[in-house]
This record gives sequence, C-alpha cells and structure tokens, in this order.
Amino acid sequence: MSGPGRAAVVTGLGAWLPPRVVTNDDLAVHLDTSDEWIRTRTGIRRRHVIEPGEATGDLAVEAGRRALKSAGAETADVVVLATSTPDQPCPATAPAVAARLGMGAVAAFDVAAVCTGFVYALGAGAGLLASGFARSALVIGADTFSTILDPGDRTTRAIFGDGAGAVYLTAGDAAEPGALHGLSLGSDGEHSRLIEVRAGGSRQRSTGLSAEVADTYFTMQGRPVFARAVRHMAASVRTSAAESGWDLGDVDTFVLHQANARILAAVAAQLDVPAERFVSNIDRVGNTVAASIPLALADACHSGALVPGARVVLGGFGGGLTWGSAALVWPDLEVPQVRAAAWATS
Ligand code: ACO
Repeated sequence: MSGPGRAAVVTGLGAWLPPRVVTNDDLAVHLDTSDEWIRTRTGIRRRHVIEPGEATGDLAVEAGRRALKSAGAETADVVVLATSTPDQPCPATAPAVAARLGMGAVAAFDVAAVCTGFVYALGAGAGLLASGFARSALVIGADTFSTILDPGDRTTRAIFGDGAGAVYLTAGDAAEPGALHGLSLGSDGEHSRLIEVRAGGSRQRSTGLSAEVADTYFTMQGRPVFARAVRHMAASVRTSAAESGWDLGDVDTFVLHQANARILAAVAAQLDVPAERFVSNIDRVGNTVAASIPLALADACHSGALVPGARVVLGGFGGGLTWGSAALVWPDLEVPQVRAAAWATS
C-alpha cells in the first residue's frame, strides 16, 4: 500500500477485562490506604485483575477475537502485541496468541514500550502495511501488571489494573474514516530509571539467587513521572493534530493513556481544551498500561462519548521513557461488549 493516499485504516475494535474486580476498599483491607486517598489522587475507584494461573496472552486472545469479529475478519497478515508483561521472557507472546486465534503461520511479534506500547504497536502495524508487506494487521495491547507489583506497595497497587484491547488495521485510503495519520513517537532513555523492573533481564537475571526480590517488582517515581507525562503527552498531541492539519480546537475527542485522572486534567489545561473532550474510564479500570488506549476507545464507543465522524487524537506516555500519539476520524464500527460490570458507573 505504498504511494500517496494510502493509509492504515482502523476497521475493527475489541477489548477484554478479566472478571475479578478489586475495589479501593478491598486494597485498604491489607494496605495503609483509603478509598478517599486513591479517588482524589488518581480518580480510580476499582480495577480488574487476573486470577493466579491466568496470563497476558489469555487477555490478548479475548481482545483479539473481539477485534477480528468487529472487523468481520478471520485472520490478519501480522499480529503485533504491545506488552511489558509477556507470558514469559522468551519467546514473545504474540506467536502463541496468533496460534490460539487460529491465524496459522502469520508474522507475529511483541513490542515493549510500557504505557506507550499500543501507540508504538500501531506505528509498527501501520508501517508494515505502508511497506506493502501486509494488507492487514491485528494490533493488540495487553498487560497484567498485577503480576509484577510489590504486594506491599500501596502506590502501584492502587494505580494498576489488568486488561487488553485491540484494533484491526486494513490497507486503505488516507481520506476514509479510520485512516491513521499524524503518527508521532518519542523517547527519553536518560530517565529510564523513573519507571522500571530492575531484575529479570540480562543485566540482573531472574535465574538462581542473583536477583533481589525487591528488584523483581515494578517501581515508579510518581512525582517526576507525573510532570513528564503531562509535558510529553501535551507536546505529542499537539504534533499529531498539527500534522493532520487540525487546530486543537478542531479535535472532538482525545483518547489518552489513562494513567491518572489528574494527568488528563493537566494535559487538557495545558492544551487549553475543555476537559469534557477527554475520554476517561480510569475510575473503573485503573491504569491498564498497553491496554489503556484501546480499552478507553471501546468504553467510549459504548458510552456514546466517541461517535463516527469525530476527529480523534490518541496519545500515550510511559516507561522508557516513551510517548506517542496518532490521529484519525473515527469510523463506524460494531464494537463487541466488554465485560458488562466494567462499564457500570456506580
Ligand atoms: N494511599 C495512601 N497514601 C499513599 C498512597 C496510597 N495508595 N500512595 C502513596 N501514598 C503516600 C506516599 O507514600 C506519600 O507519603 P509521604 O508523604 O509520607 O512520603 C504521599 O502519599 C504523597 O506521595 P506522592 O507520590 O507525592 O503522591 P502523588 O500525589 O504524587 O500521587 C501518584 C502519586 C498517584 C503515583 C502520582 O504521582 C502519579 O499518578 N504519577 C504518574 C503516574 C503515571 O503517569 N504513570 C504513567 C506511566 S506508568 C507506566 O509506564 C507503566
């Protein structure tokens, strides 16, 4: 699909949450925290978490199945799975997901960009379509951060939830609804230590006794991450809108990574855009890392916050540090139901 006027077009969307719900009050039973602290500092009321024995690939399969159904497709030329909690360090999880979806010998690989993973995976999928390698791509974001959190860390336990979301991309015309444009990606490895799991890679192996238990858990320095999330997401969103030929005031709906309700409010203020144009489902799902943006898209489709024809900018920020955004006119899609309990407002 190389050549002027060709684009990667979103033609399907699906999402999935594991059934188990953990409320703020549930966390406060074992941790020195409260529903009031978590709600006022983050906007989160509850999150979904997997049961022991479940893994990221299980959620990815469910979201992928729904995105395929939404697109009316049975397979894709490539599966790109954004995750920082793969089923195991080696091999990647995407080939097993493709196999479980009955997709045969298609290309399949993982992308690790933490909370920006879904935007990076969109870029990878769109690039493979642009190169002519693929005519269609299943792009999934799935994470189970509950598996890497320190059970005694009240900050990270309050923020993160598990989930998965996926879109189906088809080679199409740049002028049609769903066509992705204005892709903007960036990173700042100088500050990689602000968000990390120290052990489990080649520098500090998880085998034998070489890793400290504390180093196997996810850590985040909340304050400096907060400031950078606001700055980089706002700048990235500006770039995507400008490259799409839109003023920020022309954008109907912003679907940003759901890291913290206060971050979304701060980005809206920095962009001087009404906060009502920012989709938010963080109260019900928490920060679901690579799943966050497609889950928010699915939620917004079901709630009516996202309607066909809307000018949309997607944006993310996360570990790496990484950030990214993209723009599209929202297409008319059938989006299968995610677990009903997740979308109840009380
Ligand atoms: N309950 C009660 N108290 C808490 C809790 C909790 N759940 N969590 C932290 N506290 C305490 C802290 O221990 C600290 O206490 P102290 O003053 O006695 O030391 C106090 O509250 C203030 O802590 P801060 O970290 O300064 O609180 P802040 O208001 O900054 O909120 C938070 C912390 C929610 C983590 C916020 O900084 C944030 O959202 N940061 C950005 C997160 C983000 O953007 N992540 C995206 C990337 S994540 C990724 O890529 C995987």
